[in-house]
Amino acid sequence: MDEKGISEEELFAELCSFSDADTNFKKVFSSMCTIPHPVAVAAQQQFSLSNIGDPGLFRGTCEMEAEVIRMSASMLNHPDPKSAFGHLTSGGTESNIEAVLHMKNRFFSSGFNSGFNSDSDSDSNSGFNSDSNSNSDFNSNSFQSRLNLILPKTAHFSFEKIANLLGIELKKAEIDSNFRVIPESMESLINENTIGLIGIAGSTEFGECDPIEELSEIAVKHKLPLHIDAAFGGFIYPFLDSCSNSDIHSNIHGDAHSNHRSNVRFAFDLPGVTSVSVDPHKMGLSVIPAGILIFRDESVLGSSLDKIKVKTPYLTSKYQSTLTGTRPGSSVAAAYAVMKHLGAEGYRKNVSYCMDLVNHFQKELEKIGLKPCIFPRINIVAVSIGSGINETADYEKTEKIRAQLLEKYGWNVSATKTIPALRFVLMPHVTKEDISALIFDLGKLLQETD
Ligand SMILES: Cc1ncc(COP(=O)(O)O)c(C=O)c1O
Repeated sequence: MDEKGISEEELFAELCSFSDADTNFKKVFSSMCTIPHPVAVAAQQQFSLSNIGDPGLFRGTCEMEAEVIRMSASMLNHPDPKSAFGHLTSGGTESNIEAVLHMKNRFFSSGFNSGFNSDSDSDSNSGFNSDSNSNSDFNSNSFQSRLNLILPKTAHFSFEKIANLLGIELKKAEIDSNFRVIPESMESLINENTIGLIGIAGSTEFGECDPIEELSEIAVKHKLPLHIDAAFGGFIYPFLDSCSNSDIHSNIHGDAHSNHRSNVRFAFDLPGVTSVSVDPHKMGLSVIPAGILIFRDESVLGSSLDKIKVKTPYLTSKYQSTLTGTRPGSSVAAAYAVMKHLGAEGYRKNVSYCMDLVNHFQKELEKIGLKPCIFPRINIVAVSIGSGINETADYEKTEKIRAQLLEKYGWNVSATKTIPALRFVLMPHVTKEDISALIFDLGKLLQETD
C-alpha cells in the first residue's frame, strides 16, 4: 500500500478502467451467472453493513434469512416449509461442502464406521488422481478405509475440492446416453464406508436432472442422506411446466422419456431427499455471492450440528453452526428482495424467456447444419461440431473453434469434458439477436475450418 492515499476522483477513474476490463455479459454464453435484477442490487446496497454471522445485531436481516429459507423450501416442494432448516451461503461450492460435512459428521455420530470390504471397492473411481494416490500420507490401508461419497460422474468440480478438504473418496457412478446417472450404478457402489449420495438437478455441462425419484428410493432403502445439487436447476425446474418446445424436440434424437420438461421431481416431495442446494446468484437473478443450503429439518442432521457448533462468547449469539463466520446480510436482503418482487410468476416468466431462447438457438443451429447433442431440457445446449470418428481430433477441433470464437469475435462459450462439444448457457442477459449473430460467426468459422 502506498503511504499516501489517492483522491476519490483518481480512485474512481481507476475503478472505471478496471470495470471496463471486465465483461458486461453482452457476449457471454459460458457463465451460469447473469445480470442481477435491479431490486436485488438496491437491496444489496441498503444492507451493505449487515453481518448475519452476528445475528443479535442484525435481527431484521435474520428475519429475512428465515423467510428466504421458507420461500425456497416451498419452491422446492417441501411438505412443511416452516420446518425446513437452512441458511444462506456464498454459493454452490460452500453449500455442497457443508452438506457433505454434515454427512460425514452424521456417519460418525451414528456409529457406522465399521470395517471395510476391499473387494466391493476395487473398481471405484477415486477422487484422487494417480499422483495423489502415490502420496506417502496415504498408505494403502488408510487410503482404502477412507469414507466415501457416491455421486454422478457429471457432478460439479466442487466435489473434488470437498474430497480433498474432508479426506473422503469420491465414487463416481456411471451415466446414461442422456448424461443422467444410472441409479443401479449408484447403488452398486454403496458400502459400509458410504456417508451419503449426491444427485444433480441441472448438471453443469448439460443441465440434466438425474432420476432423483429412484435415488430417493435407494437413499431410503440404505438409510443414507441424499443431497441434491440444484445450484443451477433449483430456480428452473420448479418453473418449467408452462414451457413448450414441441416444434423442435421431435427433431432431436433421444428417447421419448427425455423429451419432456414438466413435472421433474427432484426435491423435498421425495422422502429420501435430506438436503438441497440452490443458488440465487445463478438463475435466481440475485447478486453474487448467494447460495442457499436447506435441510429437510434440523433432525436429519442428528448430532452433526453439535459437532460443528462453536461457542461464540464475544458475539451476540451463544453459538455459531455455519461453516463461515461473518456472512453478508446484503446477499440475504438481495435474495429476499428479488424472490418477493418476482414471485413464482416472475420466475416462470424468466424460465419461459430462457426456453424461448433455447428454441431460437435450435432453429439457428439447424441453419448451419447442427443440432444439440441431447434434448436441451433446460437452458444449456451442448453441440458437437466434430466428425464423431476420432474423439481426440474432435476435442481439438472443439477447443480450436471455442478459442477462435473468442479471439476473432469476442464470444465467450465453453467446451464440455464428458464429450467433445461446445456448450452454450442461455441466460436471461442473452437476446435472440445475440444468438443469431453468434451462430452466424460459428457457421463462418466452421466453413473456414472444414
Ligand atoms: C451444479 C453446480 N453445483 C455447484 C456449483 C458451484 O457453484 P459456485 O461456483 O457458486 O460455488 C456450480 C457452478 O457452476 C454448478 O453448476
